[in-house]
Amino acid sequence: MDYLEIQGGKPLSGKVPISGSKNAALPVIAATILSDGEVKLTNLPDVVDIRTMLTLLSQLGSNIEHQTTNATINTTTINSTKALYEIVSKMRASILVLGPLLARFGECEVSLPGGCAIGQRPIDLHIKALEKMGAIIENKGGYIHASAPNGLSGAKIVFDQITVGGTENTVMAAALAHGTTTIVNAAKEPEVVQLCEMIASAGVKIKGIGTSELEIEGTSGRLLVFPTTKIIPDRIEAGTYLCIGAITHSTLTLTDVNPSHLGAIVDKLETMGCSFEIEESNITIYPAKTLQPIHIVTLEYPGFPTDMQAQFMAVASIAKGESIIEERLFENRFMHVSELNRLGADIWLKGNIAAVKSVENLYGAEVMATDLRASSALVLAGLIAQGTTIIRRIYHLDRGYDNLEGKLLAIGADIVRKKDR
Ligand code: UD1
Repeated sequence: MDYLEIQGGKPLSGKVPISGSKNAALPVIAATILSDGEVKLTNLPDVVDIRTMLTLLSQLGSNIEHQTTNATINTTTINSTKALYEIVSKMRASILVLGPLLARFGECEVSLPGGCAIGQRPIDLHIKALEKMGAIIENKGGYIHASAPNGLSGAKIVFDQITVGGTENTVMAAALAHGTTTIVNAAKEPEVVQLCEMIASAGVKIKGIGTSELEIEGTSGRLLVFPTTKIIPDRIEAGTYLCIGAITHSTLTLTDVNPSHLGAIVDKLETMGCSFEIEESNITIYPAKTLQPIHIVTLEYPGFPTDMQAQFMAVASIAKGESIIEERLFENRFMHVSELNRLGADIWLKGNIAAVKSVENLYGAEVMATDLRASSALVLAGLIAQGTTIIRRIYHLDRGYDNLEGKLLAIGADIVRKKDR
């Protein structure tokens, strides 16, 4: 298995190009199931999760040409509507094929994703929304069997909790439904906005894009013709490199970003003492003289993203004073705490709240990645730790960070990927 070896303490500087957003690309790929003919996608990140989603579509019978950041997907050849456990168990976001498969074919089977490292993550809200639209859903043999023999009908869906994936599945299902669907308490994440804009660009009328109430006029089964869709920049990858600038006290310029998606992240780093120069698609971080402690509560967009919680915890570990970090979205998203403590951090957990006490230095050690964002927190810590840090189980990182070592090497980090003999 691959692992990363980092020699900490190297000064970093330069430019980091930010890739397309994994979390925007996944629903966009799923949405191609709604299409009549080829769809071209550009600016895809070159990460494992994207390849997994493309494999899933190809197992269903789609024709796919994929070259690193571009793909042409033709779903007219789909001849199976069963998303198998072997793929869904690798990546929970596979559940995003449920809405579009059901809307187009009137039936499908999707494996239940099961638990995941950061918590229970149920899909009850996805299912309730589709049932409200007339689907009959049964849970048999580890699979969700969904059918809607007469097609789905528009409905008023009120989410009692904001769900990104649930909103995306419902929007895709609503696009081909009979009549109008209203989603109340919809997620407003930029990735949801990209999906809505893609579907609207195919002629589906959607009101309220980017707000918490969406109204989608379905096409009564008519398939969609999508123009080429360019994936938006990855705000979590961008946020991770901003945290790398902050923790290593480096000036870094990120290119190909959308600064308007980075509000909560920039705001917290400013509170910690960093400063920024923001241009249309670039952002430069200047390091803090002394990193100040912070108080973070994870929330839905435009609040502070849970996907940045672990990276900020690494930065906070060397701030001058005690930081408090409260995780409100996922109950078990603190597995990086014990690994950061192995590197010399002083973090205390009580329930969903972490108290991050100040330490002067972190020290290299062998640690284990537990999930995607937790792994990046360990990389951040390794970049400033004295000595050598070895990070194992980096397949988590490969799921979501495009060319991490390459981008870090280019700005001066001492990082190598090695293989166990
Ligand atoms: C997406 C992101 C993930 C991010 C998360 C929150 C993708 C591929 N993944 O995940 O990186 O951390 O949003 O911003 O885009 N919930 C239920 N029932 C449901 C659905 C969700 O109780 O049917 C709960 C979840 O357990 C969680 C909360 O709602 O506590 C938010 O989850 P959700 O927004 O659905 O996250 P994902 O779409 O899975």
